[in-house]
Amino acid sequence: MTIHNFGDGNSLLNQFVSEIRDVEIQKDSMRFRRNIERIGEILSYEFSKTLTYGDKAVTTPLGTKVMSLPVDKLVLCSVLRAGLPLHQGMLNYFDGAENAFISAYRHHRGDEDAFEVIVKYFASPSLEGKNLVLSDPMLATGKTLENVLKALKEHGEPEQINILSVIGSREGVEYVKKVFPENTRLFIAAIDDKLNSRGYILPGIGDAGDLAFGEK
Ligand code: URA
Repeated sequence: MTIHNFGDGNSLLNQFVSEIRDVEIQKDSMRFRRNIERIGEILSYEFSKTLTYGDKAVTTPLGTKVMSLPVDKLVLCSVLRAGLPLHQGMLNYFDGAENAFISAYRHHRGDEDAFEVIVKYFASPSLEGKNLVLSDPMLATGKTLENVLKALKEHGEPEQINILSVIGSREGVEYVKKVFPENTRLFIAAIDDKLNSRGYILPGIGDAGDLAFGEK
């Protein structure tokens, strides 16, 4: 797996990541969603550099210009519900892409820390020969992405798989490296050191779904 980690250095991306981590700024859920969307836009731009491009003559009112344009058949697939703002960010840039949605949630038995991932709903176009982007804002254990990959197999074999994520844990990144095909690319805005006993990223941001869509 090739890892494109944009977590270090001075960048606007890091400003947005810092804002989604900040408990005070998190109180504004509209800003939280918008920041995730902006992160999705910046990661999409970085991802766009890995696409295949072909020449196309474009006619302007005063002449023609040969431009290099992406030829990939993109499918953007997001995990409901936390993935929605990230999905919107990608869609802002790749407005011609096809879309897939899948629901996955963690099921804990009683108070147990261990959990299984339940996949209930998925809607996807054919993935055969396409360039698939799986987006999941929090790459914590990697189990959700593993289950999503299994479920999507019924829709054909993509030519290329990419994962777009906001914050991951070292453990989760190692796990997806093991279970995804070798030519998978990961685009991620930050990788944190640890997980807690319930599989939350430390320091992370908390629960991304609740922050974006949960009760106040
Ligand atoms: N999902 C989240 O929303 N946050 C985490 O830290 C881990 C999984």
